[in-house]
Amino acid sequence: MSTIEQKQQQVETLMRLAPVIPVVIIDDAKAAVPMARALVAGGIPTIEVTLRTPAALDAIRAIAAEVEGAIVGCGTALTARDLKAAQDAGARFAVSPGVSPRLLDAADDCELPLLPGTATASEVMAMLERGYRFLKFFPAVPAGGHKLIGAWASPLPQIRFCPTGGISLANASDFLSLPNVLCVGGSWLTPADKLASGDWLGIELLAREAAGLRKPA
Ligand code: 3PG
Repeated sequence: MSTIEQKQQQVETLMRLAPVIPVVIIDDAKAAVPMARALVAGGIPTIEVTLRTPAALDAIRAIAAEVEGAIVGCGTALTARDLKAAQDAGARFAVSPGVSPRLLDAADDCELPLLPGTATASEVMAMLERGYRFLKFFPAVPAGGHKLIGAWASPLPQIRFCPTGGISLANASDFLSLPNVLCVGGSWLTPADKLASGDWLGIELLAREAAGLRKPA
């Protein structure tokens, strides 16, 4: 079993691969492979498929098996059973909207690295105590946006965040320019209408645009 520090290094690597992690809500598993190929072609390799639909685990399985260059993980991990099912399907990481003691215990007993959601300084401190330095900030815009996360840079300098929730091409740079943000997450790269109509070129173009969002040197 990997240690929490080994898992943290894996999460850091994932967070540094591209400026955006797409958050995917998928209704039809048949869309998974062409969608993931489009994201990878556009320069976005790390893909979070949320466990919010019956198709999610089949989508993860298909991407893991068939899409070269993609690193697929599960989102909306709420329970030990979610972590196990995602790992069995081939997920390489898990993301949760918040944290609970039982989920964190399950993550300790699971090989998948977890990117857990936090929205307050107290939650961040509790995660630090459990060995986590790489956290999701959720829901980023409703919870206080880039000003809140920027305010944490001084008292909590050891933490790096992936803000998610309410982020788009228009405001992503507000977050990416912060010293404690490595990447952002968002659903805007894989909109429901493009997934339903099979507009893979459109998704590739959205990915290319997102991949061009670089942190200032
Ligand atoms: C979600 O909960 O669906 C993710 O955080 C993505 O949020 P978004 O749809 O606002 O990008």
